[in-house]
Amino acid sequence: MQIKFLTFILALLLIVGGCSNAVGSQTVPGSETNSQDNNPLQGIPISAVEPDIFTLQLGVAVQGTVDYHDINSMAVLVNKQNKLPADYVPTDLVETNIPFASYVGSEQKLLRQEAAENLEALFAEAEKNGLILYGVSGYRSYQTQKAIFNNNVRKYGDETKANKISARPGESEHQTGLVMDVTSQSVAYSLVTYFADTAEYSWLKDNAHHYGFIIRYPQGKEIITGYIFEPWHLRYVGKDLAKILYENNLTYEEYLFFAI
Ligand code: DAL
Ligand code: ZN
Repeated sequence: MQIKFLTFILALLLIVGGCSNAVGSQTVPGSETNSQDNNPLQGIPISAVEPDIFTLQLGVAVQGTVDYHDINSMAVLVNKQNKLPADYVPTDLVETNIPFASYVGSEQKLLRQEAAENLEALFAEAEKNGLILYGVSGYRSYQTQKAIFNNNVRKYGDETKANKISARPGESEHQTGLVMDVTSQSVAYSLVTYFADTAEYSWLKDNAHHYGFIIRYPQGKEIITGYIFEPWHLRYVGKDLAKILYENNLTYEEYLFFAI
Protein backbone atom coordinates (compact mmCIF):
# COMPACT_ATOMS: atom_id res chain seq x y z
CA MET A 1 0.00 0.00 0.00
CA GLN A 2 2.90 2.35 0.78
CA ILE A 3 4.44 1.87 -2.69
CA LYS A 4 1.04 2.39 -4.27
CA PHE A 5 0.58 5.56 -2.27
CA LEU A 6 3.94 6.94 -3.42
CA THR A 7 3.10 6.05 -7.02
CA PHE A 8 -0.18 7.81 -6.59
CA ILE A 9 1.47 10.97 -5.25
CA LEU A 10 3.76 10.87 -8.30
CA ALA A 11 0.67 10.61 -10.50
CA LEU A 12 -0.87 13.62 -8.79
CA LEU A 13 2.31 15.67 -9.29
CA LEU A 14 2.26 14.77 -12.99
CA ILE A 15 -1.36 15.85 -13.22
CA VAL A 16 -0.78 19.18 -11.49
CA GLY A 17 2.35 19.85 -13.49
CA GLY A 18 1.36 18.72 -16.91
CA CYS A 19 -2.33 18.50 -17.41
CA SER A 20 -4.90 21.24 -17.73
CA ASN A 21 -7.81 21.47 -20.11
CA ALA A 22 -9.26 24.96 -20.34
CA VAL A 23 -12.90 25.10 -19.33
CA GLY A 24 -14.84 27.19 -21.76
CA SER A 25 -12.80 26.28 -24.78
CA GLN A 26 -14.26 24.18 -27.55
CA THR A 27 -13.12 20.60 -27.54
CA VAL A 28 -10.12 20.38 -29.86
CA PRO A 29 -8.87 16.81 -29.63
CA GLY A 30 -5.97 17.47 -31.96
CA SER A 31 -4.50 19.95 -29.46
CA GLU A 32 -4.51 17.50 -26.58
CA THR A 33 -1.09 16.70 -25.18
CA ASN A 34 -2.15 13.90 -22.87
CA SER A 35 -0.82 10.55 -23.82
CA GLN A 36 -2.07 7.21 -22.66
CA ASP A 37 1.59 6.13 -22.90
CA ASN A 38 2.35 8.51 -20.01
CA ASN A 39 -0.47 7.32 -17.82
CA PRO A 40 1.20 6.25 -14.56
CA LEU A 41 -1.84 4.20 -13.62
CA GLN A 42 -1.83 2.24 -16.84
CA GLY A 43 -1.30 -1.43 -16.29
CA ILE A 44 -2.61 -1.51 -12.75
CA PRO A 45 -4.11 -4.97 -12.64
CA ILE A 46 -7.56 -3.87 -11.53
CA SER A 47 -9.21 -6.56 -13.62
CA ALA A 48 -6.94 -9.22 -12.16
CA VAL A 49 -7.94 -8.66 -8.55
CA GLU A 50 -9.89 -11.34 -6.72
CA PRO A 51 -12.34 -11.77 -5.17
CA ASP A 52 -15.00 -10.08 -7.27
CA ILE A 53 -16.42 -8.27 -4.30
CA PHE A 54 -14.01 -6.58 -1.92
CA THR A 55 -14.24 -4.38 1.10
CA LEU A 56 -13.16 -0.79 0.62
CA GLN A 57 -11.07 0.96 3.22
CA LEU A 58 -10.38 4.46 1.99
CA GLY A 59 -8.73 6.46 4.74
CA VAL A 60 -10.87 6.14 7.82
CA ALA A 61 -14.07 7.63 6.56
CA VAL A 62 -15.39 5.35 3.86
CA GLN A 63 -16.34 1.71 3.83
CA GLY A 64 -18.42 -0.32 1.43
CA THR A 65 -18.44 -3.08 -1.17
CA VAL A 66 -18.15 -2.66 -4.90
CA ASP A 67 -18.65 -5.39 -7.46
CA TYR A 68 -16.57 -3.63 -10.08
CA HIS A 69 -15.85 -6.38 -12.54
CA ASP A 70 -19.24 -8.02 -12.78
CA ILE A 71 -20.46 -6.71 -16.14
CA ASN A 72 -24.04 -6.75 -14.88
CA SER A 73 -23.27 -4.68 -11.78
CA MET A 74 -24.22 -1.00 -11.59
CA ALA A 75 -20.61 -0.46 -10.50
CA VAL A 76 -18.92 -2.25 -13.41
CA LEU A 77 -15.56 -0.71 -14.27
CA VAL A 78 -15.11 -0.16 -18.00
CA ASN A 79 -12.04 1.65 -19.28
CA LYS A 80 -9.02 1.15 -21.55
CA GLN A 81 -7.80 -1.74 -19.43
CA ASN A 82 -11.18 -3.29 -18.60
CA LYS A 83 -13.22 -4.18 -21.67
CA LEU A 84 -16.69 -5.53 -22.31
CA PRO A 85 -17.26 -8.54 -24.57
CA ALA A 86 -18.36 -7.60 -28.10
CA ASP A 87 -21.62 -9.49 -27.66
CA TYR A 88 -22.54 -7.93 -24.30
CA VAL A 89 -25.98 -6.32 -24.35
CA PRO A 90 -27.71 -5.45 -21.05
CA THR A 91 -30.99 -7.37 -20.66
CA ASP A 92 -32.98 -4.60 -18.96
CA LEU A 93 -32.68 -1.69 -21.39
CA VAL A 94 -35.68 0.66 -21.44
CA GLU A 95 -36.44 3.89 -23.24
CA THR A 96 -35.56 6.80 -20.95
CA ASN A 97 -38.42 9.22 -20.38
CA ILE A 98 -36.55 12.52 -20.67
CA PRO A 99 -36.33 15.23 -23.34
CA PHE A 100 -33.80 14.40 -26.06
CA ALA A 101 -32.02 16.59 -28.58
CA SER A 102 -33.98 16.31 -31.83
CA TYR A 103 -31.24 14.44 -33.69
CA VAL A 104 -31.04 11.50 -31.24
CA GLY A 105 -31.83 8.03 -32.60
CA SER A 106 -33.83 5.34 -30.80
CA GLU A 107 -30.90 3.14 -29.65
CA GLN A 108 -29.30 6.02 -27.78
CA LYS A 109 -32.48 6.74 -25.80
CA LEU A 110 -32.01 3.43 -24.00
CA LEU A 111 -30.61 2.92 -20.51
CA ARG A 112 -30.74 0.10 -18.01
CA GLN A 113 -33.92 0.33 -15.96
CA GLU A 114 -32.35 1.51 -12.67
CA ALA A 115 -30.22 4.14 -14.42
CA ALA A 116 -33.21 5.35 -16.47
CA GLU A 117 -35.40 5.80 -13.37
CA ASN A 118 -32.70 7.75 -11.58
CA LEU A 119 -31.89 9.90 -14.60
CA GLU A 120 -35.58 10.77 -14.96
CA ALA A 121 -35.62 11.84 -11.29
CA LEU A 122 -32.43 13.87 -11.77
CA PHE A 123 -33.87 15.68 -14.81
CA ALA A 124 -37.13 16.36 -12.93
CA GLU A 125 -35.22 17.88 -10.01
CA ALA A 126 -33.17 20.02 -12.42
CA GLU A 127 -36.40 21.27 -13.98
CA LYS A 128 -37.71 22.27 -10.53
CA ASN A 129 -34.59 24.45 -10.35
CA GLY A 130 -35.39 26.04 -13.72
CA LEU A 131 -32.85 23.98 -15.65
CA ILE A 132 -33.88 21.98 -18.69
CA LEU A 133 -31.51 19.18 -19.60
CA TYR A 134 -31.56 17.07 -22.77
CA GLY A 135 -30.26 13.57 -23.41
CA VAL A 136 -27.95 12.97 -26.36
CA SER A 137 -26.38 9.55 -26.12
CA GLY A 138 -27.21 6.67 -23.79
CA TYR A 139 -26.75 3.00 -24.66
CA ARG A 140 -24.50 2.21 -27.62
CA SER A 141 -23.98 -1.25 -29.00
CA TYR A 142 -20.44 -2.51 -29.66
CA GLN A 143 -21.10 -1.97 -33.39
CA THR A 144 -22.29 1.60 -32.88
CA GLN A 145 -19.19 2.40 -30.81
CA LYS A 146 -17.00 0.84 -33.49
CA ALA A 147 -18.55 3.13 -36.12
CA ILE A 148 -18.12 6.21 -33.87
CA PHE A 149 -14.50 5.40 -33.11
CA ASN A 150 -13.64 4.70 -36.76
CA ASN A 151 -15.33 7.94 -37.76
CA ASN A 152 -13.21 9.85 -35.23
CA VAL A 153 -10.03 8.17 -36.49
CA ARG A 154 -10.89 9.41 -39.99
CA LYS A 155 -11.76 12.87 -38.65
CA TYR A 156 -8.69 13.41 -36.43
CA GLY A 157 -6.14 11.51 -38.47
CA ASP A 158 -4.91 8.91 -36.02
CA GLU A 159 -6.09 6.45 -33.40
CA THR A 160 -4.24 8.04 -30.46
CA LYS A 161 -6.01 11.37 -30.93
CA ALA A 162 -9.35 9.71 -31.57
CA ASN A 163 -8.94 7.60 -28.44
CA LYS A 164 -8.71 10.69 -26.22
CA ILE A 165 -12.27 11.65 -27.11
CA SER A 166 -13.90 8.34 -27.94
CA ALA A 167 -13.45 4.84 -26.67
CA ARG A 168 -12.49 1.88 -28.77
CA PRO A 169 -15.32 -0.66 -29.17
CA GLY A 170 -15.59 -2.76 -26.00
CA GLU A 171 -13.99 0.02 -23.94
CA SER A 172 -16.94 2.40 -23.88
CA GLU A 173 -19.10 2.78 -20.79
CA HIS A 174 -21.98 3.53 -23.14
CA GLN A 175 -22.19 -0.20 -23.90
CA THR A 176 -23.12 -0.81 -20.24
CA GLY A 177 -26.40 1.13 -20.59
CA LEU A 178 -25.38 3.12 -17.51
CA VAL A 179 -24.32 6.36 -19.22
CA MET A 180 -26.14 9.33 -20.68
CA ASP A 181 -24.42 12.24 -22.41
CA VAL A 182 -26.44 15.37 -21.65
CA THR A 183 -26.66 18.89 -22.98
CA SER A 184 -28.69 22.10 -22.87
CA GLN A 185 -30.23 24.63 -25.21
CA SER A 186 -27.57 27.15 -24.10
CA VAL A 187 -24.87 25.16 -25.94
CA ALA A 188 -27.10 24.47 -28.95
CA TYR A 189 -27.77 20.87 -27.83
CA SER A 190 -24.17 19.89 -28.55
CA LEU A 191 -21.49 18.05 -26.57
CA VAL A 192 -18.81 20.67 -25.99
CA THR A 193 -16.34 21.51 -23.23
CA TYR A 194 -17.97 24.88 -22.59
CA PHE A 195 -21.09 23.06 -21.35
CA ALA A 196 -19.00 23.30 -18.15
CA ASP A 197 -19.72 27.06 -18.10
CA THR A 198 -23.48 26.67 -18.05
CA ALA A 199 -25.88 26.89 -15.12
CA GLU A 200 -27.03 23.38 -16.03
CA TYR A 201 -23.55 21.89 -15.52
CA SER A 202 -22.94 23.94 -12.41
CA TRP A 203 -26.05 22.38 -10.85
CA LEU A 204 -25.35 18.90 -12.23
CA LYS A 205 -21.83 18.59 -10.86
CA ASP A 206 -23.07 19.13 -7.31
CA ASN A 207 -26.34 17.23 -7.53
CA ALA A 208 -25.90 14.28 -9.90
CA HIS A 209 -24.56 12.09 -7.09
CA HIS A 210 -27.86 12.37 -5.20
CA TYR A 211 -29.30 10.29 -8.04
CA GLY A 212 -26.34 7.90 -8.35
CA PHE A 213 -24.52 9.63 -11.22
CA ILE A 214 -20.94 10.92 -11.46
CA ILE A 215 -19.07 13.17 -13.88
CA ARG A 216 -16.95 10.28 -15.09
CA TYR A 217 -14.22 12.22 -16.95
CA PRO A 218 -13.57 15.32 -14.85
CA GLN A 219 -11.30 18.25 -15.53
CA GLY A 220 -7.78 17.78 -14.20
CA LYS A 221 -8.03 13.96 -14.12
CA GLU A 222 -7.42 13.36 -17.83
CA ILE A 223 -4.18 11.48 -17.29
CA ILE A 224 -5.97 9.08 -14.96
CA THR A 225 -9.13 8.47 -16.98
CA GLY A 226 -7.35 8.55 -20.35
CA TYR A 227 -9.99 10.89 -21.80
CA ILE A 228 -10.41 14.63 -22.15
CA PHE A 229 -12.72 16.48 -19.75
CA GLU A 230 -16.27 15.51 -20.67
CA PRO A 231 -18.69 17.61 -18.60
CA TRP A 232 -21.58 15.97 -20.46
CA HIS A 233 -20.86 12.28 -19.69
CA LEU A 234 -22.93 11.12 -16.71
CA ARG A 235 -22.25 7.60 -15.45
CA TYR A 236 -24.65 5.81 -13.12
CA VAL A 237 -22.82 3.88 -10.37
CA GLY A 238 -25.53 3.84 -7.65
CA LYS A 239 -26.11 6.38 -4.92
CA ASP A 240 -23.69 5.05 -2.27
CA LEU A 241 -20.70 4.90 -4.58
CA ALA A 242 -21.56 8.20 -6.31
CA LYS A 243 -21.66 9.93 -2.90
CA ILE A 244 -18.22 8.57 -1.95
CA LEU A 245 -16.65 9.59 -5.26
CA TYR A 246 -18.22 13.06 -5.12
CA GLU A 247 -17.32 13.76 -1.49
CA ASN A 248 -13.72 12.60 -1.97
CA ASN A 249 -13.28 14.18 -5.43
CA LEU A 250 -12.15 10.85 -6.85
CA THR A 251 -12.44 9.27 -10.27
CA TYR A 252 -13.52 5.65 -10.22
CA GLU A 253 -9.95 4.59 -11.09
CA GLU A 254 -8.53 6.53 -8.11
CA TYR A 255 -11.10 5.05 -5.76
CA LEU A 256 -10.25 1.49 -6.80
CA PHE A 257 -6.53 2.26 -6.69
CA PHE A 258 -6.80 3.24 -3.03
CA ALA A 259 -9.12 0.40 -2.23
CA ILE A 260 -7.16 -2.58 -3.53
N1 DAL B 1 -16.43 9.55 -25.06
C1 DAL B 1 -16.38 8.37 -24.22
C2 DAL B 1 -15.00 8.19 -23.65
C3 DAL B 1 -16.80 7.14 -24.97
O1 DAL B 1 -16.58 7.10 -26.19
O2 DAL B 1 -17.30 6.22 -24.35
ZN1 ZN C 1 -20.37 9.73 -23.12
